[in-house]
Amino acid sequence: MIVTTNDQLEAFRDCGKAVAKAIRKMGEALEPGMTAKELDDLGRAFLESEGAQSAPEQVYDFPGATCISIEPVVAHGWADARAMKAGDLVNIDVSACKNGYFTDAGATFILPPVTPEKRQLVEAAKRARDRAVAAIRSGASMQVIPQAFAEIAREGGYSIIENLLGCHGVGETLHDKPEILAIPDKRDKRKLAEGMVLAIEPFLSTGAEFAHDGDREWELFTPGCLTAQFEHTVIVSKKGPIIVTL
Ligand code: CO
Ligand code: CO
Repeated sequence: MIVTTNDQLEAFRDCGKAVAKAIRKMGEALEPGMTAKELDDLGRAFLESEGAQSAPEQVYDFPGATCISIEPVVAHGWADARAMKAGDLVNIDVSACKNGYFTDAGATFILPPVTPEKRQLVEAAKRARDRAVAAIRSGASMQVIPQAFAEIAREGGYSIIENLLGCHGVGETLHDKPEILAIPDKRDKRKLAEGMVLAIEPFLSTGAEFAHDGDREWELFTPGCLTAQFEHTVIVSKKGPIIVTL
């Protein structure tokens, strides 16, 4: 959607703050032996205490309040009794609705011990998101987003997951227009417009170009490769990005 009033901007900030805090609190709680269900319960309770509702449950009937992807799951993992263990990559993606507006954010954590391979991948995925966010400005090409992902991936020798969107609109629903591919597309001539609300989410991998289904509904895997994601919801303005999931 396009934000046109200050009240809308503040409503997105309010929702985004709850989402960002939920991710922080869930990240702080991670420990070996903890199950995805326990972590999800924490996230749900926190969102409720902030007056926000889980977006995946509300919009998609997803079997959890948040997406918790414990290695080897890379995205859309759901709350069950599966426990995390030392050294695992754990992605926490929280999206919520508050007062009619949605925001969406994600982060990848590593349970100690942290190997250099995992640390570098996680840092690169975060850098890819942050470089794309920094390039956002009304009137700029939408391609600044996948181009930023590609630069960071190239520097670190990583691949980008191509079958997950690199950017989607957010607003009065979780997945809105526009949809922007994660890899550059020369044919895409669209421009970023003032007030557009976008979720920016690169998935960088140690080699995979596609995420695949597994045995259980929703969950995605990159067999033989490690994959990490970071996400922010951002509003496009003339002066640059307004990050709302802080
Ligand atoms: Co998300
Ligand atoms: Co998203």
